[in-house]
Amino acid sequence: MSIIRVENLIKRFGNITAVNDISFEIEEGTIFGFLGPNGAGKTTTINILCTLLAPTSGKASINGHDCMKESSKVRKAIGIVFQDTTLDKDLTAAENLIFHAYLYNIAKDKMQERVDDVLRFVDLYDRKDDLVKKFSGGMKRRLEVARGLIHRPRVLFLDEPTLGLDPQSRTNLWEFIAELPEKHNVTIFMTTHYMEEAEVCDRIAIIDNGKIIAMGTPDELKKAVGGDVVYIKTTDNASAKKEIERLFRLDVSEKEGELYLTCVMGDTCIPEMIRTIGERVLSVRLQRPTLNDVFLKLTGKAIREEETSGMDTIKEEVRAYRRRH
Ligand SMILES: Nc1ncnc2c1ncn2[C@@H]1O[C@H](COP(=O)(O)OP(=O)(O)O)[C@@H](O)[C@H]1O
Ligand SMILES: [Mg+2]
Repeated sequence: MSIIRVENLIKRFGNITAVNDISFEIEEGTIFGFLGPNGAGKTTTINILCTLLAPTSGKASINGHDCMKESSKVRKAIGIVFQDTTLDKDLTAAENLIFHAYLYNIAKDKMQERVDDVLRFVDLYDRKDDLVKKFSGGMKRRLEVARGLIHRPRVLFLDEPTLGLDPQSRTNLWEFIAELPEKHNVTIFMTTHYMEEAEVCDRIAIIDNGKIIAMGTPDELKKAVGGDVVYIKTTDNASAKKEIERLFRLDVSEKEGELYLTCVMGDTCIPEMIRTIGERVLSVRLQRPTLNDVFLKLTGKAIREEETSGMDTIKEEVRAYRRRH
């Protein structure tokens, strides 16, 4: 069932079209990612869905409730982690959550239990009586996720949740986020301009200049780019090159003593390649296209030129984490 439906949504600010006729649906219990550069229209879309902003035209609903006409029902169904932190630094972690629990009219006899539950989930239970101003960036983000969950929303919005965090904290945060749909029975709508982070999503919409330019699973989007690159080292590159070219009918190139070729499904053509070149093979590695390659292909520009260091590590750790669970 689709828990979020958006149809032909448009938002203009004067002569700027921040959101330009977007439509999508999000299945309940999934992680949906909005991936796009700064200024693409991600926060504007979230603000409309969260009933904080009226669209110029179009429709949006959450859990069957119209975001414009039934805003109080929508608000009860959602939790939000904003792009900029909104915690009260002079309160403790637990006090911040209690404050929020009052705002959401959570029954007094259930409050303490709810607060403790979410604090345990984000691994901050031991720090619950510490002032937030003593917390690191990563801890604050986790506390905001806890706060967003306290009234048990059906949908949790996370707007650039990892902005400004160091790589280690980002990885930790993604581990929490990946667990959310199952453990807390929520659907996640998140935005990021760090392409590798979008790997945890079940589905992604790539947004640029207010328009959705591609939508699909991370694998679907990457496959559309046109293939993996396979690198092979052999004891005799000249003969191996000829034989692989004959077998697959494609061009093999050589760089720094290593052969490489692009093929649609690298993982399935590797075994055959190895059988062909037999004992000459020294090493084989497979490089999959990244979501940045997808963005580059679609728009002709990199989503993010700077700050990509450390991202491969994160990507690998998130994948390893997913495999373990
Ligand atoms: N309140 C506003 N008034 C005028 N322009 C705005 C306002 N909010 C956003 N914009 C513009 O709309 C575009 C999309 O912004 P935003 O949704 O914040 O993008 P993102 O979150 O993807 O970085 C940008 O060009 C931004 O400057
Ligand atoms: Mg934004």
